[in-house]
Amino acid sequence: MTAMFTAAAGGTLSFPGGFVWGAATAAYQVEGAAGEDGRGTSIWDVFAHTPGRVAGGHTGDVACDHYHRYRDDVRLMRELGLGAYRFSVAWPRIQPTGSGPVNAAGLDFYDRLVDELLAADVSPYVTLYHWDLPQPLEDRGGWTERDTAHRFADYARIVHDRLGDRVGTWITVNEPWVVSVLGYGIGAHAPGRASWRDAFQASHHLLLAHGLGARALRDAGAREIALTLNLAPVTTPGRLDDPEAALSAEDAAAVDLVDCLINRQFLDPVLRGEYPAAVLDVVERAAGLGHIRDGDLETVNQPLDLLGVNYYNPCVVSAEPGEPANPAYPGTEGIRFGDAYAPKTAMGWPIVPTGLTRLLVRLSRDYPQVGLLVTENGAAFEDTVSGEHVHDADRIAFLEGHLRAAHTAVDAGADLRGYLVWSLLDNFEWAEGYGKRFGIVHVDFDTQRRLPKDSALWYRDVIRNNGLRAGRARRPTLEEVAARAGVSRSTVSRVINGEAAVSPEFREVVMNAVTELGYVPNSAARSLVTRRTESIALIVPDGARAGDPLFAAAVDAAGRELERAGKRVTLMFVGSPADRSRVERHLAAGHVDGALLLPARGSDPLPGALAGTGVPVVSLGRPPAAVALPYAGTDDAGGAAAAVGHLLGRGRRRIATIRGPVDLAAARDRFDGYRNALRDAAFRSADAVGDLGRASGAAAMRELLAADPSLDAVFVAGDLMAAGALHALREAGLRVPEDVAVVGFGDEEDAAYAVPPLTTVRVPWADQVLAAVRLLLRQIGGGPSSSVILPTELVVRSSS
Ligand code: FCB
Repeated sequence: MTAMFTAAAGGTLSFPGGFVWGAATAAYQVEGAAGEDGRGTSIWDVFAHTPGRVAGGHTGDVACDHYHRYRDDVRLMRELGLGAYRFSVAWPRIQPTGSGPVNAAGLDFYDRLVDELLAADVSPYVTLYHWDLPQPLEDRGGWTERDTAHRFADYARIVHDRLGDRVGTWITVNEPWVVSVLGYGIGAHAPGRASWRDAFQASHHLLLAHGLGARALRDAGAREIALTLNLAPVTTPGRLDDPEAALSAEDAAAVDLVDCLINRQFLDPVLRGEYPAAVLDVVERAAGLGHIRDGDLETVNQPLDLLGVNYYNPCVVSAEPGEPANPAYPGTEGIRFGDAYAPKTAMGWPIVPTGLTRLLVRLSRDYPQVGLLVTENGAAFEDTVSGEHVHDADRIAFLEGHLRAAHTAVDAGADLRGYLVWSLLDNFEWAEGYGKRFGIVHVDFDTQRRLPKDSALWYRDVIRNNGLRAGRARRPTLEEVAARAGVSRSTVSRVINGEAAVSPEFREVVMNAVTELGYVPNSAARSLVTRRTESIALIVPDGARAGDPLFAAAVDAAGRELERAGKRVTLMFVGSPADRSRVERHLAAGHVDGALLLPARGSDPLPGALAGTGVPVVSLGRPPAAVALPYAGTDDAGGAAAAVGHLLGRGRRRIATIRGPVDLAAARDRFDGYRNALRDAAFRSADAVGDLGRASGAAAMRELLAADPSLDAVFVAGDLMAAGALHALREAGLRVPEDVAVVGFGDEEDAAYAVPPLTTVRVPWADQVLAAVRLLLRQIGGGPSSSVILPTELVVRSSS
């Protein structure tokens, strides 16, 4: 598979004729208008309005106001050339109490939406259940109640009666695994229950709802019927890199069980009319089998036209004797859930496009009777609006990688009929609220202004070409900037190198072209006009402290390594705007060949300014998302997840965190890693913020203890803060680790000498600096500039 992927990467990739290109949303995530036109209350209204359930206390009350702005949104879809729009119908708009009387105004809205879409040449793809169960049905047991499946079939019929003459494709249910596991098993989603008996009853009844609904739709004459599943290829760390790698019998058993729980629990009943034996074993232990009645599986196993595939990332597991079960996967004792060691999205999800190839090929091989439609694929990144643009190069790279992977699957025989990006709009990302932006169109939630991101414009071209053009998505070149500005290459080069000889008018047209195109200057631009200086600047932004281990390692290793390469190092501290312009001028004037930049705060304009000087700059640690600087970073999220996994493995359940400054990328990654690990494990998170210093660690620890005296572990995002936390715990008369286990981050010098010696996540500081220096030297030499992420490692001592 890998070989084919590479082979295809260079050329033009066309998708089969008739391939469907579109985008998806879901009612509660975009509509808003929660109290309008007779809409009833859903479990997500109740959940989101319950304090502590959704990040930031966000709700879908207003969301993207799509309910009122759908005309503008459809116009946007037409401009982007979408062939299909997948939206969901809010059940409580149609039947406010979930059964009985129909609310005509609710149906009218979807009727208008469908007409608007058809007039714009966009095919409506309707999802009937995307998680907003009417609360009155939840009050009667929700999905644990068999009757809910019958109510769903009634509702499906009602919607089809009204829209069936114009809607061809019907998706019954979206992601029953997420509904049952996150909603009923661990309570991270609505309705927020935490019972495995409930979860397995819910998953069976959701399948039954699909079957009854599909039958009702078929009887009513629906053309194309589908079910959408969240599917993940399950693999081992070794096989992630090499699909042919040998698999031990224990690892194979681990892969098989987890595959059964995530994928086959749903695929097999729907497409084969049976549950895998391994699933029945787990279900029987957790919930008994009384809720699975004779004849149910025949009902579930309705003929299906399309399988909707939602792919975000693979699942990596291996056999590990003694490992406790993953709380989201009952029955997985002795299986370790690992990290994919790949770059991550803002959700902390690893980016592994080849997983999509594997998944699609496997589906067409194992379930050849059903066509495939990617109903969701996409990514959240931290977007920045600059003027009228969002240069979301990360998202373009993500989408392009996945489309190439999908194409490889088609070549290998997968029956893939279309691709719908998640999502058309930034929207309410469930328990994450509005913080995570998945849209190809940016939404300003204060003004509701829509702004197509670069990814939307790129996607428009993909749709126009029915595929990808030769070569990978790339940044614009100096030539393109010159052409856009109507000047010569060397004028562009002189402007971006800050040469005084260019007139202000030229400077302005060039800089406009630079921003419009999202041009990122590189060493080639600079070398047009300057010669090497054999000097390197080591730039220390405001807030990076001399006591920081990265700082010490950087000065030390950079000094040595650069000397070996025959370069001089100039240390430059930036504490004020005046310092910043001095550094910018220094670089732009060509006094150095390149610069190494220590981690800057999210709000610091310095990285952006340096990226604009035209001099090669490499960042130590991930720069703020909007800044396109190559970097050498460490897997902070993975390290944090390992720390939390370790605490869970030691039986800790009330695990708080002391996070670092929120505007420091590494600190945010550690926090994401912590939160995702706890969320996967279905435990609540609690956090306090420190500034990485010892005193702030102590203060944060006191704050956490005051909020929850029964906490039994704390993950601290820095060793100095951890030392402070140990102090505060001692002060409160608590024993470490008997009462509270502590894990730090960094494995800084004092960690091993703390009392008790600190369990921590080792960061390879020196290697990181070395990697950054090499990257910089390569770039100065005109070589490639791809970032490097180094693994971290948990070091267990006595504090946990
Ligand atoms: C899927 C959901 C969708 C969206 C994406 C990010 O699980 O179906 O609504 O939230 O994840």
